[in-house]
Amino acid sequence: MAKAKTSFFCQSCGAQASKWLGKCPTCGEWNTFVEEVIQIEAADRKQFSPSNKAAVPIKLDQIIAIAEPRIDTHNNELNRVLGGGLVPGSVVLVGGEPGIGKSTLMLQVALTIHDLKILYVSGEESDQQIRMRAERIGQIHTDCYILTETATQNIFRQIETLKPDIVIIDSIQTLQTDLIDASAGSISQIRECAGEMQRFAKQTNTPVILIGHITKEGSLAGPKVLEHMVDAVLQFEGDRNYGYRILRSIKNRFGSTSELGIYEMMSTGLREISCPSEVLINHHHEQFSGVAIASTIEGIRPMLIETQALVSTAVYGTPQRSATGFDLRRLNMLLAVLEKRCGFRLGSKDVFLNIAGGIRVDDPAIDLAVICSILSSGEDISIPLKTCFAAEVGLSGEIRPVNRIEQRLAEAEKMGFEQLYISKHNTHNIKSQGIEIIKVNKIEEVFSKLFG
Ligand code: TYD
Ligand code: MG
Repeated sequence: MAKAKTSFFCQSCGAQASKWLGKCPTCGEWNTFVEEVIQIEAADRKQFSPSNKAAVPIKLDQIIAIAEPRIDTHNNELNRVLGGGLVPGSVVLVGGEPGIGKSTLMLQVALTIHDLKILYVSGEESDQQIRMRAERIGQIHTDCYILTETATQNIFRQIETLKPDIVIIDSIQTLQTDLIDASAGSISQIRECAGEMQRFAKQTNTPVILIGHITKEGSLAGPKVLEHMVDAVLQFEGDRNYGYRILRSIKNRFGSTSELGIYEMMSTGLREISCPSEVLINHHHEQFSGVAIASTIEGIRPMLIETQALVSTAVYGTPQRSATGFDLRRLNMLLAVLEKRCGFRLGSKDVFLNIAGGIRVDDPAIDLAVICSILSSGEDISIPLKTCFAAEVGLSGEIRPVNRIEQRLAEAEKMGFEQLYISKHNTHNIKSQGIEIIKVNKIEEVFSKLFG
């Protein structure tokens, strides 16, 4: 087949060159040249190319808005993260570290949608391996087709005859188009293949789910441009030592990006966790020091999370600070606040912080629970069992209000808690029957109430 005409472009300034250059002569950046297709033989691009029909401007009020119909994925957590289901014609990128469970999640979705025809394209596993995985998940239905192929031209040929309702690609890094010489997984291949998939999705109104790998640095392997090309970017993450997995939306053209989906990896595939509070707090009956419960909200969903801290005298010169599931810089900031504003001597102590379940939360309302778990461990006095916290801590040691306090309260009440510490500045008239609300203004107040 005739090769398309390609050229090399600097990703930093856009300079063009006929061959690859290590250093851009225009902007001086290193290693920024990437091969791109600039002209494609008409015959090669007969499919899924931009149409020649010129668009004309239309007045906004003359455009008829059609309520986006959503395709139910029969997976409540995935539906929630997507903002209510898959949008026809959208391209969704699912990223995650190797072995986290991306293929399992997508195969499970492919197997549970039984009213639509699904094509699962795998460039990573053989059909036998996929069959074995499907047996493990335990649902085999007949309208899910497996294609082990990496050449996009062949994939489109199969799609044309099969006419699937949803296409899943595992993974974008294994795809290869004939139009570019570069090897699969290189930036120019990923870009061109993703572009072809995107054109296919838009022209046929078929949703395409792309699985993508994540580099060691934690970004989606491939150019940043991949994230711009797709409609939604979902990240699948979790701590390897725990069974919990979180599906987080990083970008979503059709929904909110603050939603979380929570799963547990079982021997029979992923189990959806619809009530996270029940699994994220340890229902022990003994009291341990260094444990505090935070009432947090991710997206629209409240959940109670257990924070654990261990404070001990540093054996070596420099004290260690380590955090799992929590931003280390924020931990250092909270420790500095405790030291400077409240006079707790933590400068010579090792501090270890762990968010139970290995789940990372972005909600600042977890601050007060973190501080209380550190104080509890430092004093070696446990926090009363049925107590939880929901407040942010400011740089001067003040307890700051957080939003949606009613929901946090309701969740704590539902889980059988008896006391909730919040900021004095949460001025809403909060009604509660079964739970005592303790309003505090300074860390010292909390300290004297709990340990004083
Ligand atoms: P996989 O979906 O292959 O990860 P990815 O596609 O993100 O690389 O997940 C593989 C891991 O999941 C592997 O370590 C085994 C585990 N697993 C289970 O624990 N239970 C299961 O039912 C399946 C299918 C996999
Ligand atoms: Mg995989």
